[in-house]
Amino acid sequence: MARMIFPDQTDTRDLPAIQAKLATIGITLRHWPAPAQARSLELMEKAVLDDAEKQELLAVVDDRFEELKREAGYATRDMIVIHENIPGLAEMLAKFEKIHYHTDDEVRYILAGKGYFGFVESDGKQFMLEVTAGDYINVPANTEHWFILGDSKRIKAVRYFIDTSGWTPVYTGRALQFAD
Ligand SMILES: [Fe+2]
Repeated sequence: MARMIFPDQTDTRDLPAIQAKLATIGITLRHWPAPAQARSLELMEKAVLDDAEKQELLAVVDDRFEELKREAGYATRDMIVIHENIPGLAEMLAKFEKIHYHTDDEVRYILAGKGYFGFVESDGKQFMLEVTAGDYINVPANTEHWFILGDSKRIKAVRYFIDTSGWTPVYTGRALQFAD
């Protein structure tokens, strides 16, 4: 379940309040319970998934993909599995820890692990959102944000795309209000 964190380190888990604040900058957050079947849990516990295992887990949540196709025209989806032993992990994560936007929506359904999105409000204030299993988030195109993994270095998430060509970070150069 999502947790909102402010620069003074205060936080909240009040989902309606979090959703309302996110909505002011166009972001949708939904609670979609993660799969709970024994086989899904077994896959979500593994550090690494091969392609067949990714497809197996994607199939379990394909009703969500069908909903997004109907609702908003999402055309493709894949599964990203990040773990502490991926070669080049630090370089990969460094691309997303600076404030940026994309020209396509950034849509993620977290199945396991943990990560942190950061956002900029219209008045320039910043906050972070801890996302864990069961959090679905849609960050619209051109919304300033950043992403860090935190200490666990593991996350499994479904990524939904309208057009993958728009999913390159464009850096805005804005400074973070959060200490490392
Ligand atoms: Fe991004």
